[in-house]
Amino acid sequence: MKTNFPVKAFAKLETPFYYYDVELLKKTLDTVRNEAAKHTGFHVHYAVKANFNPRLLDIIAATGLGADCVSGGEVAAALKAGVPASKIVFAGVGKTDKEIASSLDAGIFCFNVESVPEIEAINSLAAERGVVAQVAIRVNPNIGAHTHANITTGLAENKFGINYEQLDDVIDTIESKSNVKLTGLHFHIGSQILVMDDFIALCGRVNELQTMLNEKRGIVLPHINVGGGLGIRYDAPDKFNIPDFELYFATYAKHLKLYPGQQVHFELGRSIVAQCGSLITRATYIKKGTCKQFIIVDAGMNDLVRPALYSAYHRIENLSSCRADEVYDVVGPVCESSDVFCKDRKIPATLRGDIMAIRSAGAYGEAMAFGYNCRPIPQSILSSDIE
Ligand code: LLP
Repeated sequence: MKTNFPVKAFAKLETPFYYYDVELLKKTLDTVRNEAAKHTGFHVHYAVKANFNPRLLDIIAATGLGADCVSGGEVAAALKAGVPASKIVFAGVGKTDKEIASSLDAGIFCFNVESVPEIEAINSLAAERGVVAQVAIRVNPNIGAHTHANITTGLAENKFGINYEQLDDVIDTIESKSNVKLTGLHFHIGSQILVMDDFIALCGRVNELQTMLNEKRGIVLPHINVGGGLGIRYDAPDKFNIPDFELYFATYAKHLKLYPGQQVHFELGRSIVAQCGSLITRATYIKKGTCKQFIIVDAGMNDLVRPALYSAYHRIENLSSCRADEVYDVVGPVCESSDVFCKDRKIPATLRGDIMAIRSAGAYGEAMAFGYNCRPIPQSILSSDIE
């Protein structure tokens, strides 16, 4: 039985709900900030897509991190939380005119651009306003990260980024326009990456590209944005509750070859918020099948879609039981066969009404929730809400 959850308080609450350990979030944020600060010119933007719960965003913004946004809604949420516009980057393949216009009006730091028509749209909207928009080209480094196929992004076949062969033309386009200014290069190779070699490979590509741009076109850009992607240990959320940010930043510091004064930007999402969050649920029924037994919980795939969507592993703990283990499938109530959190997992013998924690749900849990089957989005409870 886990004791680091306020189980007595949970017993009085309606389930399911997202539970966030504020102390752990703050410790994680302090670690990120302190480790990044060891290297001159390193800037961290929190990837809002991982979790845009306003109360968490307030805490994150208060530590001084910037924001990495992928929609006008995220830019608005970051601004509302108090992230200065000068620390907001806006990425995404499909920015609409409305989203570009509001971001220009807010005066965000940079648009990470992914196509020629997008550059044209930003240029004309900036011209209408009499401003010059800073843009970074999102370059597709064509690196396959060691992660799930659905969350690699840096391959030529992915919809993201601009391929090497097209780079010259894209730079020509930007240089020919008066209301966009090329200030950086942006990369992102994928998410949930635990192998530092993938980031080292990215550094190699960045170095190559910088040399090429410098030798061929005399270009040295002030900003290099290496994206996010640092993974977390889903298998051991307590032992590895704070990711190894020291190693992560040191890896970039060692392998990136920077020109004098160049600034390095990071867009970290999962590594900042995943471990502080759990989805708390109750066992509604224990169902014995002919060859399996199921714990049917009151949370479903619409509250945490990662297992259904990516076959992702999340630790599941019974907070009410210290009985001997049995083997279960833990499933939700949604009318979909994929509404399964885990299969054939050893979990302490579970009874109807037991409270369970689905761990490491702080990133891409609440943020990806949806209302299928008329199910309400669960409430969120912060540890600071509980006496
Ligand atoms: N920057 C860009 C351009 C991105 O596309 C992403 C994530 C990030 C930063 C943040 O990556 P992180 O540090 O969180 O790995 N829903 C999936 C993950 C999708 C990630 C999408 N892009 C999941 O639940 O695993």
